[in-house]
Amino acid sequence: MENSEAQGHSEDYFGGYRDFWWNKDFLDLMAERLRLKQHHSLLDVGCGLCHWSRLLTPYLAENPDIYAVDNDPKWSVEDPEVKEDFRKLGARFSLQAADARTLPFEDDFFDMVTCQTVLIHIKNPALAIAEMKRVLKPGGTILCVEPNNRVQSLIKSSLSADDSVEETLEHVKYALIYEKGKKKRGEGDNSLGDLLPGMLAEAGFRDIEVRLSDKAIAMYPPYAKPEQEATLQQWARVSGDAADDEVYFKSAGRGYLAFYEMYRRKYAHLGERMAEAIENHSYHAGGGTIMYLISGTK
Ligand SMILES: C[S@@+](CC[C@H](N)C(=O)[O-])C[C@H]1O[C@@H](n2cnc3c(N)ncnc32)[C@H](O)[C@@H]1O
Repeated sequence: MENSEAQGHSEDYFGGYRDFWWNKDFLDLMAERLRLKQHHSLLDVGCGLCHWSRLLTPYLAENPDIYAVDNDPKWSVEDPEVKEDFRKLGARFSLQAADARTLPFEDDFFDMVTCQTVLIHIKNPALAIAEMKRVLKPGGTILCVEPNNRVQSLIKSSLSADDSVEETLEHVKYALIYEKGKKKRGEGDNSLGDLLPGMLAEAGFRDIEVRLSDKAIAMYPPYAKPEQEATLQQWARVSGDAADDEVYFKSAGRGYLAFYEMYRRKYAHLGERMAEAIENHSYHAGGGTIMYLISGTK
């Protein structure tokens, strides 16, 4: 990358792991259902490194026009590798710095507007949805790919399989307070996916359809599949310090700080136990997620 050394939004999540988020045959099916071949122009909102639009491009009409916007200075400077990928796919590509809530395009411009894991990071996502609608042509397609992330705290692994009811509830409580604090800080709702079908209806979209990605990256020894190796690398990148979470607990409400302190003490060794279990090949998990694909027509 030629641009700045500063860490970009979600940069720790842009590793190879992101390339394994989708099953190819599922995307083939989605492309059929959404008749992507009819679409010539596509806008990727909150594009990051365009992992999502690079996947969609082969399904669009010949020589499509791909536009991308991101409000992070790091992701709104063209990356030569990304540009070259679009060139190889026969697409024209253009990237601009812009906020999803004030898109720099005229009304009724695009055949399709999409985003992947972006609205969960935005304060007032309804404003972004209204903008995405404004720049879509009448009859154009919106496709929002956004998760419910709170369910992650309930997904079982070999490490948590024998947790008590109280321990499970503590993990869920931690996730809920974190999510509440993030929202209060104006950094978005981590489980917004659940609310998006209703929000698209409220914004006046028709033919709303809601699907779930069929991808699960199950982890089991010897973790030798490329997607499992990429997942382990991803976990190593983000095995962050729970100290970073304190601000979210403070924002959620000072009354939650005692729980935060207790949780940190009680589960201080969870990361180490997980690393050991991976090392000695006793860790396994089904890897389920809830990733919605919500589409609609203007
Ligand atoms: C989790 S990343 C997803 C990136 C990309 N869509 C993907 O799936 O690989 C979220 C992206 O949304 C961008 N973003 C967050 N808030 C935004 C806003 N208000 N307007 C435009 N982009 C935004 C971030 O800079 C980041 O690149």
